Amino acid sequence: MKPPKAFPENSKFQNLKKFQASPILYMKEAARTYGSPVDLNLPIGKFALISDPEQAQHVLASNHENYTKSNGYKQVALVLGNGLLTSEGEEWHRNRKMLQPSFHKNELRKLLPAVWETGSQYLSTLADNQALRLDTEMNGLTLTILLNSLIHSSDEEILSKMSGHVNFGQEFIVNRIRSPFKWPLWIPTKNHRHYHAMMTDSNDLIQRTIEERTSIGGKDIEDLLSVLLTKLDAKKDFIQIRDEILTFLVAGHETSSLGMTWMLHLLAHHPEIQNRLFEEVNELGDYESLDLMNFANLKYTGQVIKESMRLYPPIWNVVRKAKAQDRLGEFEIEEGYQLMNSIYELHHHPDYWENPALFDPDRFETYNFKHKFQYLPFGGGPRFCIGNNFALFEMTILLVQFVRTFKLKPLSPKEIGFNPLLTLRPNQLVNIQLTKRT
Ligand code: HEM
Repeated sequence: MKPPKAFPENSKFQNLKKFQASPILYMKEAARTYGSPVDLNLPIGKFALISDPEQAQHVLASNHENYTKSNGYKQVALVLGNGLLTSEGEEWHRNRKMLQPSFHKNELRKLLPAVWETGSQYLSTLADNQALRLDTEMNGLTLTILLNSLIHSSDEEILSKMSGHVNFGQEFIVNRIRSPFKWPLWIPTKNHRHYHAMMTDSNDLIQRTIEERTSIGGKDIEDLLSVLLTKLDAKKDFIQIRDEILTFLVAGHETSSLGMTWMLHLLAHHPEIQNRLFEEVNELGDYESLDLMNFANLKYTGQVIKESMRLYPPIWNVVRKAKAQDRLGEFEIEEGYQLMNSIYELHHHPDYWENPALFDPDRFETYNFKHKFQYLPFGGGPRFCIGNNFALFEMTILLVQFVRTFKLKPLSPKEIGFNPLLTLRPNQLVNIQLTKRT
């Protein structure tokens, strides 16, 4: 066995600069030069890139017990505590088993009318010929939907404060991971004071919501909090309920928002695909006659969503750290190695995708992939995204509503660069223009 080759062979500090400027480009060059796994030759620890589906399957699924989440998750845990995304081992396993049924399609069905209602209210505020700044608009819309689905509350103060906290929490995590030196949180900088205030306030707001809910019985309220309260004790398990709510909010928000942003951007640049979509969704009939569960069967709509998450996977990279030495093909992976399973690289790999840069929803017409780990928008193995059905329903509903109401035209260039960290953010504004369908 031999260690993975290092790329590029410059000084590690030079490499770090290049990597920080554009990790996607850096990783693409590394993968195209030495294949998979390839050591990224960085000064911040031993990192190797994986772009081979068989190896990704080994790390994420078949030999997952040899891996933990990466060091970056320590920063995520500062905001999310010990929820599903950050916990490990027996605790994670127990909670995943408990929460999984709540995300089953039949359970989620109850949430869909509210998702439809929120989307339709939002679209009714948009005017003919309006320009839309997608990142901020989708950020607001998907957060409202998620808050309604998790902690449905008629208290506007709770919703607006929680929105602010989720946005701050996400930025806080990203900035902390990005900064090379992490100041201890007891140092009273402005940012740290804001963090502590945000954590205390989110705690209080979630507690208030639970108290209100338990005082009225709250059996008829269809949201995930109700489900959590049937499985956990509002008082004894409060910390766990709070951490799971915060986790779902943060894990489910920016991912869905970016999924929508990139998809609407792609559609604005492909009027012919919009027309095919319109033909499919226009046949659906009125809302009253719709069976929202059948949305998942809308064939072409589903293909558009899948293809857009192939080109722009909202989570572009999942990192795992080796607990003990392992073997990937002919390569030795030392203990402590952090393996970047690049979803982006897997989704653009020329050996697995014909014409990988092309937006072509037809490639999903028949699932004829060479390897089941070549397409992983929701991850793979036991830590697969628990919210995937929710996200797909939400994206389908919003896509149907957009395409039925408006034609989308581009106001930003077709090729947009990235500002990737945990998620695949665009590095510039992404705008479209809406024209009402008559
Ligand atoms: C388009 C939207 C979404 C995408 C692309 C996405 C993607 C992912 C990916 C790739 C992972 C695996 C991370 C890893 O293995 O390290 C993940 C995990 C997770 N996601 Fe999602 N997600 C989306 C929406 C959601 C939603 C709506 C929720 C909740 C309501 C959610 C909750 C979670 C949680 C809790 C985990 C951790 C699961 C575990 O470790 O057991 N996600 N997601």
